[in-house]
Amino acid sequence: MLEVQGIHTFYGLSHILFGVSLQVNPGEVVCLLGRNGAGKTTTMRSIIGLTAPARGRILFRDEDVTGQPPYRLARRGIGYVPDDRRIFADLTVAENLEIAERSTNKESGRWDKERVSELFPVLGEKRSRKGGHLSGGEQKMLAIGRALMGNPDLILLDEPMEGLAPLMVRSLEEQILRLKATGLTVLLSEQNVVSAMRISDRSYIIDNGQICYHGTVKELQANEEVRKKYLQV
Ligand SMILES: Nc1ncnc2c1ncn2[C@@H]1O[C@H](COP(=O)(O)OP(=O)(O)O)[C@@H](O)[C@H]1O
Ligand SMILES: [Mg+2]
Repeated sequence: MLEVQGIHTFYGLSHILFGVSLQVNPGEVVCLLGRNGAGKTTTMRSIIGLTAPARGRILFRDEDVTGQPPYRLARRGIGYVPDDRRIFADLTVAENLEIAERSTNKESGRWDKERVSELFPVLGEKRSRKGGHLSGGEQKMLAIGRALMGNPDLILLDEPMEGLAPLMVRSLEEQILRLKATGLTVLLSEQNVVSAMRISDRSYIIDNGQICYHGTVKELQANEEVRKKYLQV
C-alpha cells in the first residue's frame, strides 16, 4: 500500500534522512522505532508531503506521490496525526470533528461523528467541551478522530503514546487494534517500544536517519541484541 524508496530529506542544509526505505502492506500495523532525534518524524513528514524528500520516491497504491502536498494525500486516503496534536483549542470536540469531515458522498461504514464517538466514548461525552479543555490523552483521541473523519485507508500516527499515562496507553492500543480490525492500515512511529510491539505486525528501526533493522515483531522480540543496541529495552 505504501512504499518508501530510498528517500533523502533535508531541513535546509541539514541532511536528515539517508536513503530510508520501508513498506506497509494493506491491513498491517507497522511501527517505526528509534531514539529521540533518529528521524521518525522527518520520515512521517516526508511521506505526507510536509517536507518533501530531495531524492527517492514515495509510492501509495503503486502511484508516485513524492512531494505531493498534504491535502492531496489526504484526498487520496492518507490520514496523518502529527506528534503535536493539532486540534483547535477554541472549538468544541464536535466542531473539531465536523470541520475535518470530508464532504464526499457518504457511504455506509465511513467515518462520522457518531462512529468516532463509539471508538472514543469520551469524545461523545465531552462533545460540547472546548478542545483546549481536554486532557492530553483526550486531545490525542480527538486528533485521531479528526484524521478518521477524512476516511483514510492508511493512517500515519506520530508517537501517539508519548506523554500518556500507562492506563491511557493501554486503551489507545486497544483502539488502534480496533481500527486495524476495520481494515485500516497503520504506520506508527513510537519511542514506547513495549507498547508498539504489543500492537504491531512488523517493525523498522531508524537510527541517524537510516533504517538499521526491519523484521516482524516476533523476530524483534527474539532479537535482544538489536533491542539493546538501538532501543535500550
Ligand atoms: N525543523 C528542523 N530543522 C533542522 N533540523 C531538524 C528540524 N526538525 C528536526 N531536525 C533534526 O532532524 C533530526 C531528526 O529529527 P526527527 O525526525 O524529529 O526525529 P525523531 O522524530 O525520531 O525524534 C534530529 O537531529 C533533529 O534535530
Ligand atoms: Mg518525532
